[in-house]
Amino acid sequence: MHLTNAEEKALAGERGEALEIAYRVLVAIGKLGNAEKLIPIEWAHVSGVSYLTIGEYGLDFLKKISNSKGAKFKVFTTVNPCGMDIENWKSLDIPEDYAKKQLEIIASYNKLGIANSFTCVPFESYKVPRKGTSVAWAESSAAVFANSILGLRTNRESAVSALACALTRKTVYSDLQISSNRKPSRNIRVGVKKHGDFSGSLNFGILGFFAGKQIPGVIGFQGLKPRLSLAEAKSLSAAIGTLGSSGMFVLNSKEKVETIEFTDREYEETISGLSQTEEGEAVIFGCPQMTLEELSDLSVAVRGRHFKKKCIVFCSSMMYEKAKKKGYASVIEAAGGTIVRDACADFTPLISSLKVGSVVTDSAKGAHYMRKVHGVDISLKDTKTIIEENTA
Ligand code: F3S
Repeated sequence: MHLTNAEEKALAGERGEALEIAYRVLVAIGKLGNAEKLIPIEWAHVSGVSYLTIGEYGLDFLKKISNSKGAKFKVFTTVNPCGMDIENWKSLDIPEDYAKKQLEIIASYNKLGIANSFTCVPFESYKVPRKGTSVAWAESSAAVFANSILGLRTNRESAVSALACALTRKTVYSDLQISSNRKPSRNIRVGVKKHGDFSGSLNFGILGFFAGKQIPGVIGFQGLKPRLSLAEAKSLSAAIGTLGSSGMFVLNSKEKVETIEFTDREYEETISGLSQTEEGEAVIFGCPQMTLEELSDLSVAVRGRHFKKKCIVFCSSMMYEKAKKKGYASVIEAAGGTIVRDACADFTPLISSLKVGSVVTDSAKGAHYMRKVHGVDISLKDTKTIIEENTA
């Protein structure tokens, strides 16, 4: 891989340990992907923020990087949700020892210079660059959305590679950074009959979960409506990113490649693999974190009603503040919903601390991870049904 003189010097450790490590990571990835060079980026999005995902090893690594002389992020850098509500963790019964570690992680990122985002929906909170811009986003749901809906170019960066990209303002010129790689490798033809016109975020979550498992490369869809709502596109992207390695989809693909059918049978098999129970003991919304539009819709749906069981809603602080100003937050809270800010819905001790054996959610990605991480049974249903069944 070709490196400039400046890159060679940084790789040799002449510009500090953090940059040396960062370039070593990028060069190793570049060699694996036969990349010819590194290219500049305009935005890095870093994952690996919850202590539940990175643990002690990750925390030590972050401390080492952030304490290295002169280490700073060189490009606009947002971060994924962490594992707790940063302001209200005490009242939400987050264990003190977990919170201490989580705050150390946040302090390390702050030292490196992050935007105060704590969101997996960064495209809602900040101005999105023009189409074709190269970025380096680690959160798989956001990366799939960036490539497929926003027209940005990002590889599915890992927590470590995105950190390296943020430190260097560069990424590896490979995979989805290259135009010729951004074409469907296989198509999925949607021929589901039982679910009406095939709309809503649950249906797209089921489709995405199936597609992500089947196709590791760019996914072409056929037989879908021409435009998806923000909630549908977000749910599809998140579910694609849950399993497998696909980083992009193309709606209404014309590519002449092998086609996989997605019929009622595949739909039922996918949902029954994700949903083990008819009812959940608690309601969880917000994987990915809820957008302002979703908070608005939720407030309309629960106005004048009351949740019959614990309901937790995840969103970023930025969206919470906006929802508060518009009056959505107070309606959801009056209905008994607890709005948790800046946390991931799945990689948080909050789910285990509910001490329930099952939850009901509208997210395919959330269904997969909450079962995997917390061992709870899942009831996977659409948002409207969840509200009808769980409020009075
Ligand atoms: Fe976001 Fe966590 Fe789900 S990062 S997409 S809420 S797993």
